[in-house]
Amino acid sequence: MSPLKVRPRRTRQSDTWRRMVRETHLRPEQFIYPMFVVPGSGVRHAVQSMPGIFQLSVDEAVKHAREVAAGGVTAVLLFAAPERKDAKASDARDREGLAARAIAAIKKALPALMVWADVCLCGATDHGHCGHVTPQGRIDNDTSVATLAEVALNYARAGADAVAPSDMMDGRVAAIRALLDQEGLSEVPIVSYAAKYASSFYGPFREAAESAPAFGDRRSYQMDPANGREALREVLLDVEEGADLVMVKPAGPYLDVIRQVRDAVRVPVVAYQVSGEYSLIRAAAERGWIDERAAVLETLTGIHRAGADLIISYFAPQVVAWLRA
Ligand code: PBG
Repeated sequence: MSPLKVRPRRTRQSDTWRRMVRETHLRPEQFIYPMFVVPGSGVRHAVQSMPGIFQLSVDEAVKHAREVAAGGVTAVLLFAAPERKDAKASDARDREGLAARAIAAIKKALPALMVWADVCLCGATDHGHCGHVTPQGRIDNDTSVATLAEVALNYARAGADAVAPSDMMDGRVAAIRALLDQEGLSEVPIVSYAAKYASSFYGPFREAAESAPAFGDRRSYQMDPANGREALREVLLDVEEGADLVMVKPAGPYLDVIRQVRDAVRVPVVAYQVSGEYSLIRAAAERGWIDERAAVLETLTGIHRAGADLIISYFAPQVVAWLRA
């Protein structure tokens, strides 16, 4: 007689069993696809450090958005890299600025595609920091927050379905909520990058968004990767200030944070699988060192299992295609 009464392998012995007892399922609606918009027309410029990702002019962004929407992607997250960069982040506040034009063009062409707009100053400032810089070279939190609210208002007026502040200034969610409400846009949700870490994994993005800081780094506003409790503090504050969804970013190295956040709040939790997480998998796959499809699905399943309801990923179109196949 067998000495083992308990054998967990019994429910692993066939694909049917495995499918029946599977705990975590990925759905197409969970994925948000980031896109990078640049000036000009007819521009489709490959991002070297992110194979498969392109900087697109507004017309090309509309075309690409149409393709991914036809493939089943429900939402995109827009980043703009305008030509005009100055201390005031003028382009981001301008109704005729690059981001606002891209939002309006995509919504006009594809009303059913959800467009989230990343709200930050780094792409539109000459110094590349996410807030205003004082003559002493410090980040001026409170004037930055006022500008960020104007940027969010500009994007909401352009038709964004949600605004997503990624700057990590204190108090920006409350300021954005107040201004949107005052201007009759109380129905536009705020997706807060609530626990955003100062991460080495943003490297490839800075090529795509042309947003690397000209001096210093972002550690006075983005979080120290060593801190977990502080993430809860940030997230709870943002919920109190009116965030409709909260984000943890990056995703893969912060699964414990995602889990703690999921357990601590009642709003949907979003995780951002960032550029470096994408590029690592792509680079290894290109060399034949890893099975790309298996690796992508495993990382995304892990992020969802950790507690992320929604996932922002550069793999979104590919994953949605796999899930629908
Ligand atoms: C800018 C911003 C960054 C990302 C999203 N918004 C970069 C940064 O903070 O330097 C990173 C996204 C990615 O790496 O995919 N506020």
